[in-house]
Amino acid sequence: MAQTKTPARAGTLAALADGGGPETVIEVSDLVKRYGEVEAVRGIDFTVSRGETFGFLGPNGAGKSTTIKILCTLANATSGTALVNGLNTATERDAVRRNIGLVFQDTTLDTYLTGEQNLRFHAELYGVPRAAVGPRMRQVLDMVGLWDRKDSLVSTYSGGMQRRLEIARGLLHAPHVLFLDEPTVGLDPQTRSSIWAYINDLKQREDITIFLTTHYMDEAEHCDRIAIIDHGKIVAIDTPEALKASVGKDRVQIQTSDDRAAIGELAAVFGIDAAVHEGAVTFAVASGEQFVPRLFAELTIPIKSVSIARPSLDDVFMSYTGSTIRDAEGGTGNEFMRNMHRLRSGGRR
Ligand SMILES: Nc1ncnc2c1ncn2[C@@H]1O[C@H](COP(=O)(O)OP(=O)(O)OP(=O)(O)O)[C@@H](O)[C@H]1O
Ligand SMILES: [Mg+2]
Repeated sequence: MAQTKTPARAGTLAALADGGGPETVIEVSDLVKRYGEVEAVRGIDFTVSRGETFGFLGPNGAGKSTTIKILCTLANATSGTALVNGLNTATERDAVRRNIGLVFQDTTLDTYLTGEQNLRFHAELYGVPRAAVGPRMRQVLDMVGLWDRKDSLVSTYSGGMQRRLEIARGLLHAPHVLFLDEPTVGLDPQTRSSIWAYINDLKQREDITIFLTTHYMDEAEHCDRIAIIDHGKIVAIDTPEALKASVGKDRVQIQTSDDRAAIGELAAVFGIDAAVHEGAVTFAVASGEQFVPRLFAELTIPIKSVSIARPSLDDVFMSYTGSTIRDAEGGTGNEFMRNMHRLRSGGRR
């Protein structure tokens, strides 16, 4: 991943953070958090590398926010350690805080202030040098498309605008690590995808590591790596692609002018066992997208159309936890709840 530095970081703001930092930005070992009888986090281990977008995917109550709170020094672990940029979250709180930006699950904006006033207040709290505040504010507000609305009261912003302002605020002091707890929860699909466009854009511009939590499968797809967390434990951790590949193969279907000949060639050239299903030559391969170009290059029978169906993260969640994320959130057998969740999660499936 490119590790470019922005002009903003190169200037006075660089003094706010503790240098470039190590390659392993987050290191969590045997982390446990108990609230009385409730064991919210039950011994988790993971690392996040510099520049990664790393996601915690799990249902309500899985322990996602609890882990974020420990990493952000807002909660004490019961046992285990959590390091951010090589700093111990239990014993080096102030230094950790200088390195991180945080967008909470619940909004924490002052809605009776303007967008700009919210950011200025934050800059003050984080000790951003006065001369750096103006240019940096322009930069982050431009990034989230809110520069024109900076003088409006936040109470007049839409939900999506408020979320974007919170992301801008989290970035104002040029943190090394940005924590986003459910960054798009409750937003409509269009706003959710625009927030992801901002996050992806941010990754291009700044040397930043992102840790986010979500219970949206499609959101997890944006991450470089995902940890699936259920009942306080990490049950799987890998790239979205590898997790899906671990579940099963992609299904490829092709329309050809001569299906019998195509099936013969697939066996002879690739050693693939294909058959006609639903009127198309159908077979399974580990990575359909990478296979299809080879198919076009090496099959002599003309191909009229191709479709690839891959295992979804829903399938992954199911295979590691034994239930769907919707069932885990209590919607079992309840069509209304399932529909609500489908609507909230952008109309998938
Ligand atoms: N301050 C607290 N006091 C007592 N129990 C708590 C507290 N905070 C969290 N818990 C419990 O810890 C467990 C994990 O909660 P957490 O907020 O980490 O879940 P989450 O994965 O973020 O869920 P959601 O998707 O609903 O935000 C839950 O059982 C919750 O009730
Ligand atoms: Mg939460």
